[in-house]
Amino acid sequence: MNASDKKRNVAKAALEFIEPGTALGVGTGSTVNFLIDMLPEVRDKIDSVVSSSKASTSLLEQLGFTVSTLNEIGDIDLYIDGADESNKRLQLIKGGGGALTREKVLAAAARRFICIADDSKLVGMLGAFPLPIEVLPMAQELVSRRMLKMRGNPVWREGFVTDNGNHILDVSGLQISNPIEMEARINRIPGVVTVGIFADRPADILLLGGENGVREMRV
Ligand code: 5RP
Repeated sequence: MNASDKKRNVAKAALEFIEPGTALGVGTGSTVNFLIDMLPEVRDKIDSVVSSSKASTSLLEQLGFTVSTLNEIGDIDLYIDGADESNKRLQLIKGGGGALTREKVLAAAARRFICIADDSKLVGMLGAFPLPIEVLPMAQELVSRRMLKMRGNPVWREGFVTDNGNHILDVSGLQISNPIEMEARINRIPGVVTVGIFADRPADILLLGGENGVREMRV
């Protein structure tokens, strides 16, 4: 079974969590794209939908969904999104697709956050995947120097501008043994919009697609 099959299976499993009347948050990425393709199957259960990116919004609209803003609907019942890494505590690295800031806002507004991923994303310690940080363009050199001091290797994501008009710094070489502390520390650097560590608000449920089906993990 290849990674796409695992992603498709895990997206299918997530559909079961959508109950009648759900205010749904939809994330961004290739795993979520499988979910979006399946959402018409449960259209009747979805009361309203918000999305974490222009890309996901466009896909949802092509399927006939009206995408609301978070300000219009308030808190959401369920947020479903992928991840680049998860540890056993369901603390995540996100932002491979560059949508981390809006993703963090939707996760914070969600009563329940389900992460969907293929089983390659489960790791012992976060940090093998280069950590994405969304940064104000005028602060990119400052934040880069601060990350070097933290023994990270920062690389600018060339030619990439986020939906919020900012830049992404991908930082490799970090061993994130204390994700909550690292998230707070990087978020304190002036010019950082959001760091892609989701530890203060981890996922509630992780659905992992593997060779033998879908495994559900909770903290
Ligand atoms: C986007 C994200 C994605 O959830 C993450 O990159 C995983 O993507 P994929 O499902 O394509 O593996 O955080 O900003």
